[in-house]
Amino acid sequence: AAPMTAHYPEMAGKVAVVTGAAQGMGAVFAAGLATRGVSVVAADINEDQVVATARGIGSELAAHSLAAEPGRVVGMRADVTVPADHERLAERAVAEFGRIDFWINNAGIFPFALAEDISSEQIGATLKVNVEGVLYGAQAAARHMAPGGAIVNMSSVSALRVRKGRGAYCTSKAAVAHMTESLAVELGDKGIRVNSIAPGYIDTAMTRWVQDDPAALAHALEVVPLHRLGSPEEVFGPLLFLLSDSARYVTGHSIAVDGGSRH
Ligand code: NAI
Repeated sequence: AAPMTAHYPEMAGKVAVVTGAAQGMGAVFAAGLATRGVSVVAADINEDQVVATARGIGSELAAHSLAAEPGRVVGMRADVTVPADHERLAERAVAEFGRIDFWINNAGIFPFALAEDISSEQIGATLKVNVEGVLYGAQAAARHMAPGGAIVNMSSVSALRVRKGRGAYCTSKAAVAHMTESLAVELGDKGIRVNSIAPGYIDTAMTRWVQDDPAALAHALEVVPLHRLGSPEEVFGPLLFLLSDSARYVTGHSIAVDGGSRH
C-alpha cells in the first residue's frame, strides 16, 4: 500500500537514488517516492530482488489511479562498498531521468557479536558497508547532484545508545551521524543538504531476531513509549519531510524515529 503522508507537490518530477532498496525500508522509500512523482534508481547488492522489487512497484502504481503522475522505478545492482558502483548509479539516473535531486544512503548490515568475539571480517564488513558505503554515496551525489539537492543517510538510535552484542553496529551508525554533519558543512557550499534518520525498532528483516525472541520483543515493547515496533512507512514520512522544500533550511541533523525510546 502507498504510504500515507502529506502530499508535497514539489516532489513531482524529481529524481532519487535509493540504496539497499531490494527490501525493507529502502523498498518502501522507493515506492513512496514514486507515488509522489519521483523517479527512482533502486540499488541493491541483491540484483534479482531489487529488479523484482522495482517491477513490483511499477505494476502496483499502474494499478492505482493516483492524483499525480507516478515516477518510474528502475532496479540495478550496486555494492555500496565499491565507489565505481555509485558512479554507475549516478550515470544511470542521469541517463534514464536526466538529473539527480535526492540520494538516500540506506543500505546497511547488522552483525550481532560481542566485542571480545568479533572477527576482523565482521568489523571490516560492518564499517565498509555502513560507513564507507555512505561516504562513497555522498561523493557520487556531490559530483552529479543538481543544486538544491538533498542527501539522507540511515543512521540508527544505536548511534546514541549502546547495547551488548552491537558494538560494531553502534560504532558504524555513530560514524554515520558524525559523517552527516561533516558532509553538511562541506556540501552546503554547493547548496546540497545532508541529514540523517535514526530509526528505532522498525519491522523489517533486520529486526526479525527481536520479533522471534519473546524476551527481546517484550523488552522492546516495554522500553518504547508507544509500545510497538514502527513500520517502514512511518520512517518514510520523516524522510519525505527531510527531502522536501519544508526542510530547505535543515541540514546536518538527525531525526529519531523510534517511538520515543529512551533506552
Ligand atoms: P534490510 O536488511 O531489510 O535491508 C537492507 C538492504 O541493504 C538489503 O536489501 C541488502 O541486500 C542491502 N545491502 C546490504 N549490503 C549491501 C551492499 N554492500 N550494497 C548494496 N546493498 C546492500 O534492512 P532495513 O531494516 O530495511 O534497514 C535499512 C537501513 O536502516 C539500514 O542502514 C539499517 O542499518 C537501518 N536501520 C534499521 C533499523 C531497523 O529496526 N530495521 C533500525 C535502525 C536503522
